Amino acid sequence: MKTLVLKVDPEKPEAEKIQVAANFIKQGGLVAFPTETVYGLGADALNSEAVTALFEAKKRPLDNPPIVHVGSAKSVYSLAQQVPPKAERLMRLFWPGPLTLVFKRSQAVPEVTVAGLDTVAVRMPKHAVALALIKQSQCPIAAPSANLAGKPSPTTAEHVFEDLNGRINAILDAGPTSVGVESTVLDVSVDPPMVLRPGGTPFEALRKVLGDVVLHPFVSAEQELPVGKARSPGMKHKHYAPNAEVIVVEGAIPDVVAKINELAETYRRKGVKVSVLATDETAPAYNADVVKSLGSRFNLAVVAQNLFRLLRELDAEGVDVIVAEGVPTEGLGLAVMNRLRKAAGYHIVKAP
Ligand code: TXA
Ligand code: MG
Repeated sequence: MKTLVLKVDPEKPEAEKIQVAANFIKQGGLVAFPTETVYGLGADALNSEAVTALFEAKKRPLDNPPIVHVGSAKSVYSLAQQVPPKAERLMRLFWPGPLTLVFKRSQAVPEVTVAGLDTVAVRMPKHAVALALIKQSQCPIAAPSANLAGKPSPTTAEHVFEDLNGRINAILDAGPTSVGVESTVLDVSVDPPMVLRPGGTPFEALRKVLGDVVLHPFVSAEQELPVGKARSPGMKHKHYAPNAEVIVVEGAIPDVVAKINELAETYRRKGVKVSVLATDETAPAYNADVVKSLGSRFNLAVVAQNLFRLLRELDAEGVDVIVAEGVPTEGLGLAVMNRLRKAAGYHIVKAP
């Protein structure tokens, strides 16, 4: 299959380009498109064959359902069997935006789109290109992140191309995404609502609105938890992993710096190509083959924005090991640490 790359204006997407992409979706094809979080790989959510092809293109396990993207809160009522008042409040406050809500599903949603579950995950993205594509396609769009299963999510069209060239019909290229980590997944089919995946909408913001909201134990896990406890299929699968081995070092900053230099030295003596994923404040203190900074420790939104891109860049440099600095688990830091710990397969070193 030839993959068409269409450059579009991120704010005022050209109608004729959106039309080309929407035609693919309407015909059951696959189109990658930008959202504010990461690039998604879209298919008509109500077309079982299209969604099956979507799983195949990503090599995604069939038990892990994608998020259904809608163009307005109104569309939720045909996808969900029940929309609790709390969810309506959240939609008013956080949509469009990086918050996915899990509802009891209606019969309108095909079995394959929800991987056989009795719930459906829905969100309205905050990106002009995504919204134009949904509107022009005249259907809700099922879209997991547009990476090969297990790889870091794509924050640029180039990342999508790397993973999926020749496997999908088109890529809408509107430049880098702004949030950089995926949406927060909140289950509102239970009470109190439960965060199943931390993401672009901070837990603190949800707590402020809801009062009572809980974190699933997987969200802040520091070790692999028994799969039987998973509430979201995505919790069970290997994720965000670059080719290099990842180690996360957590603790107070001076201890972390000392520990990382010690680890880097040990690896280098063994002839292993070591990189450090640092922050602006600490980067000059490291001795390693490659040092990259995620941004300031005091701006976790920027750290989130850079995370997946830097993991991919380090792979491209052919490093064998990535030693990453932990960041505080507040605001977007909770999503960053969740992704880093998973990328590391929970290889976490506590410093000192
Ligand atoms: O920001 C995002 O959410 C991006 C962009 C493209 O919108 N999408 C994304 O999709 O990250 P994906 O498929 O890579 O992740 C969806 C997550 C998975 O962890 C999946 O297990 C979970 O949502 N999920 C989907 N449906 C669910 C359901 N009915 N119940 C619980 N978890 C669900
Ligand atoms: Mg994903």
